[in-house]
Amino acid sequence: MTDSLTIRDNRTGEEHEIEIVDGTIRAADLKKVGGLATYDPGFVNTASCRSAVTFIDGDEGILEYRGYPIEQLAEHSTFLEVSYLLLNGELPTSDQLGQWTHDVTHHTFLHENIKGLMTGFRYDAHPMGMLMSSVSALSTFYPDASDIADPANRYLQTTRMIAKMPTIGAFAYRHSQGKPYVYPDNELSYCANFLSMLFKMSEPTYAADERLVKALEVLFILHADHEQNCSTNAVRSVGSSQVDPYSAVAAGIGALYGPLHGGANEAVLKMLRRIGSTDNIPGFIAGVKEGKEKLMGFGHRVYKNYDPRAKIIKKACDDVFEVTGINPLLEIALELEKIALEDEYFVSRKLYPNVDFYSGLIYEALQFPPEMFTVLFAIGRTPGWLAQWQELVVDKEQKIARPKQIYTGHRTRDFVPMGQR
Ligand SMILES: CC(C)(COP(=O)(O)OP(=O)(O)OC[C@H]1O[C@@H](n2cnc3c(N)ncnc32)[C@H](O)[C@@H]1OP(=O)(O)O)[C@@H](O)C(=O)NCCC(=O)NCCS
Repeated sequence: MTDSLTIRDNRTGEEHEIEIVDGTIRAADLKKVGGLATYDPGFVNTASCRSAVTFIDGDEGILEYRGYPIEQLAEHSTFLEVSYLLLNGELPTSDQLGQWTHDVTHHTFLHENIKGLMTGFRYDAHPMGMLMSSVSALSTFYPDASDIADPANRYLQTTRMIAKMPTIGAFAYRHSQGKPYVYPDNELSYCANFLSMLFKMSEPTYAADERLVKALEVLFILHADHEQNCSTNAVRSVGSSQVDPYSAVAAGIGALYGPLHGGANEAVLKMLRRIGSTDNIPGFIAGVKEGKEKLMGFGHRVYKNYDPRAKIIKKACDDVFEVTGINPLLEIALELEKIALEDEYFVSRKLYPNVDFYSGLIYEALQFPPEMFTVLFAIGRTPGWLAQWQELVVDKEQKIARPKQIYTGHRTRDFVPMGQR
């Protein structure tokens, strides 16, 4: 048996042999079958790259960064350590982590004119719009970022971006609150500093509860990468033009802004509020089964098993609620999950809780308004976007992203003068 595919073209009777490598055929090889191309809206069965960053097995519910299971990283690691792992492929030594932490910590401040740019937004500007614009504006502050072929330069811009995302995110939040922006505190850890920039008022040092800092670390780790999702694909696609990484990541933030990608956790919160009490769950489930609405936070394109991130978040919920007090919506969420996991409708369709089922509850407990949920996702996803961008930049096989189309419009028509239309 050979690793190849024999295709018989029934239009001509010709047979063609196409090589199979890693369970795929090269779409370009199909050209020799009478100019054949593939049609795949949404890339549901097309690999766009080779990647060594993140592995997912959706049937088994497995997620690994650089081969390390997400459960172990969430338990033992920090977000900066995981960022290093994603970017460099290996866990850092103590010295490497010290240097990396130092470098990130010393790039957290923004140029004052970025702050000026942010103050120019309307009082009710969506923080994701502010984040996307500010990150794209960074390319004008660091024009050297366009030198993407230089590894030292890539390191510098990567460090800058991971360092500045929380500062921009926090400024956007303070803007919506009408509160003065809080500058970074380089004495604090990445997550503790983020909480300080969000919530500090007049106290000299903002001391966040360690359990909340840990919960934020875990949430950022869980969101740090998810292979070729919509926003990562946007980063790679825009990055394939060899533009600077700020412009490529701004495109990723734009993709994440959309409700089909980053916005589901907010929808879960709204749903839980609408259900209001565990007594209303049977009626709600009946409505879902009749197709009236979806059980938000359930189901996933890739995971046909319990989303491994949901399990970890569920555990983090307990730690957060220990500090903030129980959110009554948690009781509804737990009961809803219990009923759905036993119900034939959900079991037969392999619908399990995904990462968004519990994350919104934690974000709310941490006092974030719903518009900030996607900003938190973006901060967590930044090292993943950058690791994938770096991989793209050095991948000799990559070309500028330029899909084909099946043209369905008119051909060669004569121009019709205005008076005759
Ligand atoms: C995530 C999601 C878009 C995946 O969609 P998909 O892979 O295209 O799966 P499908 O929409 O084809 O779903 C397959 C079946 O399960 C049903 N289904 C999927 N998710 C469902 C949900 N959350 N509640 C109720 N039914 C659901 C579909 O109606 C379909 O049923 P059918 O076979 O009787 O027509 C989808 O599960 C969803 O909308 N979930 C809720 C939103 C959400 O939590 N998104 C966050 C993802 S991280």
